[in-house]
Amino acid sequence: MKVIRDIHQMQRLSEDLRKKGKTLAFVPTLGALHEGHFSLIHRARKKGDMVILSIFLNPIQFSDPMDLKNYPKSMRRDLHQAQNHHVDIVFCPSEKQMYSKDFSTYIVEENLSKDLCGQSRPGHFRGVTTVVAKLFNIVKPHIALFGQKDAQQAIIIQRMVRDLSWDIEIKVASILRDRDGLAYSSRNIHLSPEEREQALALNEALFLAKIMAKGGEKNSSKIIQKIKKVIRAKPLAKVDYVEIVDAQTLEKVKTIEGKVLIALAIYIGKTRLIDNLII
Ligand code: PAJ
Repeated sequence: MKVIRDIHQMQRLSEDLRKKGKTLAFVPTLGALHEGHFSLIHRARKKGDMVILSIFLNPIQFSDPMDLKNYPKSMRRDLHQAQNHHVDIVFCPSEKQMYSKDFSTYIVEENLSKDLCGQSRPGHFRGVTTVVAKLFNIVKPHIALFGQKDAQQAIIIQRMVRDLSWDIEIKVASILRDRDGLAYSSRNIHLSPEEREQALALNEALFLAKIMAKGGEKNSSKIIQKIKKVIRAKPLAKVDYVEIVDAQTLEKVKTIEGKVLIALAIYIGKTRLIDNLII
C-alpha cells in the first residue's frame, strides 16, 4: 500500500495509472475508520482496479471548532486497517497543503444544502463540496463512493458532479449498522455505554416509521410525531431535526407518495448522531 501526502505526487500517480488503463475507485473519508468505511472500500474493490482512500480531517466543514477538536483521530490505526482491507493507495495530505493561508475559492451548492443538516451546521456543505472538488482534482477517480448514512451529502455531491459536468461516476452504498442496529459512525466512540443504549432509539424510531408507512399512513407529520415520541422517551436524547423529504429534491413532503427520505439528527448527550431511511 502506498501512502501519499503530497498533492502533486498523487496527481502524477493517478495520471500514470489512468494512462495504463486502470480504473480508479475512490473513497474519501475524515479518518477514524470503522466498518461503514470498510464497506465502501470493499465496494470500491469490486468496481475498480485500484482503490484509493483519502484520510483528511477537513477543517472547513466543521462550523464548531470544538467539534473539530474533539473529532476522533487515529491515523496510525487507520493506515494499518486500510492495509488490512487491501487499499492500494492512501492519500493523506496536511491541512497546510490543502489550504494555503490565502485560500479563497469555494464550491457552493445553493439549493439542496439549505435544509436538514445545512440548517443545523451552517457552512458545513460548502466545506464538503469544496474539499470533495479538490480531492476529485487531485485523485482523478473514475468512480467515487459515498455512504447513504450521509444521505444529504451524497445527493449534494451527485448534484455537484452533474452541474459541473465532472466525468466521475458516483456510487452510494447503503448504511452499515452494528448488530444492535446503531449505524456505524466515527462519533459513536464518544458515547458512554448508557448513551449508546439510548442511541438505539434512532434506528428503532426509523423502523417504527417504516411500519407505519407500510401500514398505509401517508401523513408525514403523524410519522414525524411518532419518531419524536420514541426519541423523547430517552432521557439523554434531544431532537435536532426529524424530517420527511422527497428522496431526490429533499423538499419537505406533507403526504407520502413515491420515494421519500426520513432523515433525523439527534443529540445523545453531547454527541450529534444522524440516521435515515428511504421508503
Ligand atoms: P466520513 O464521515 O469519514 O465518511 C466517509 C464516507 O463513509 C461517507 O461517504 C459516509 O457517508 C460513509 N459512511 C459513514 N458511516 C457509514 C455507515 N455506517 N455505512 C455506510 N457508509 C458510511 O463524510 C465524510 O467523511 C466527509 O464529509 C467527506 C465526504 C470525506 C468530505 O470531507
